[in-house]
Amino acid sequence: MRTEGIPASDVRSRIAAETADDVPWNRVLNSICTEPHPLGVEMSAAAAHTNLGDVRIFRGSKRIERKAVQLLLDLLGNPEGSGNLVSGGTEANLIAMLVARESARARGRLTDRPEVVVSSTVHFSFTKVFGLLGLTPVVVPVDEALRLPADEVARRITEHTIAVVATAGSSEFGVVDAVDEIGPVVSPHEIHLHVDAATGGFIIPFARELGRDLPQFDFSVEGVDSITIDPHKYGLVSVPAGAILFRGAQDAGKFAFDSFFIDTPTHHTFLGTRPGGAAVATYAVLEHLGHSGFLEITRTNYDVTDHLVNGLRAAGYEMFIEPELNIVVATLPNAAKISERLESWGWIVSTSKRFVETLRLVVARHVTRAMVDEFIPVLDRARKEVEAEVAAR
Ligand SMILES: Cc1ncc(COP(=O)(O)O)c(C=O)c1O
Repeated sequence: MRTEGIPASDVRSRIAAETADDVPWNRVLNSICTEPHPLGVEMSAAAAHTNLGDVRIFRGSKRIERKAVQLLLDLLGNPEGSGNLVSGGTEANLIAMLVARESARARGRLTDRPEVVVSSTVHFSFTKVFGLLGLTPVVVPVDEALRLPADEVARRITEHTIAVVATAGSSEFGVVDAVDEIGPVVSPHEIHLHVDAATGGFIIPFARELGRDLPQFDFSVEGVDSITIDPHKYGLVSVPAGAILFRGAQDAGKFAFDSFFIDTPTHHTFLGTRPGGAAVATYAVLEHLGHSGFLEITRTNYDVTDHLVNGLRAAGYEMFIEPELNIVVATLPNAAKISERLESWGWIVSTSKRFVETLRLVVARHVTRAMVDEFIPVLDRARKEVEAEVAAR
């Protein structure tokens, strides 16, 4: 740190210079997080001084957090449930797995080698979580539709199983597991069923209403005990805003840690000091947009997704998988090289380590039809250049 500070104007210009090469949203096609809603940004900035780790001081922020959680519980069909806002999907999944373990302990079915049944496409946040909590993943290969098959889940449940994780919107493919088939399979065993809807939580309820053929994934499905949903993804709230929701009114309380001090409430999240701004922004955006606002945003996202798919097909590309949500995966030989070329021209796409001949494009609020129309010829140019280079070798 400097002995003498520098003027605020200099700090501003230094930060502006450093962030000048951050990629503008109109060149971003790989991100599930999007340009946040301006009202959320405004409210979050206004609450930048607040800390939900100290709710004796920030009582209003705490009340707002409870209201935001209630809105999310209502959205996912469980007004009587419980939950907390957290830093994102990773923390939500961590808390879900810890509660699953405590529930197994309370039921007297926690063995010396607790296992969790997951699909081969489960989000990598679970790898972190399993390492931290000492849980053993039992990995079920996905079927041809890239879904976790319910009958295979049934076969993998043993005395060691403490939880099953289904995904409602995989981040690689946007595939929604058949939670409505997995729930009834898991439910008779008294095993915790967690649904990771970090990506799909703000899409599926509205997409179903718009007539898209997607399975039910929320608390209306028998056996679903907890759900991760991320306001900072398709909820349009600024980072960091995640949420973990539980079926039972007391379940969120199973992750509970006391502080040193009298009159200080127990912590129910992994973070201690945590941003009240995230709660305020989440509440603001959900209340402002309301159901009809999210329905319209979802309608637009699907319109742009369909436009992208049609445009790619018209240009000769094939889909690796039919898109269910707003994630488009096309077959593309030399995908990594093409992605590099696109990045050198300012466009960000993603390519898979596992399915190396695929290109993944994410449609979020900032992606428009005009952006798609601009992108496809650029993709074509990158593809042709790379193909010519590969052929010349
Ligand atoms: C399905 C799924 N789960 C979990 C996560 C992790 O969320 P976060 O990055 O907010 O911790 C993601 C992130 O993309 C995701 O798509």
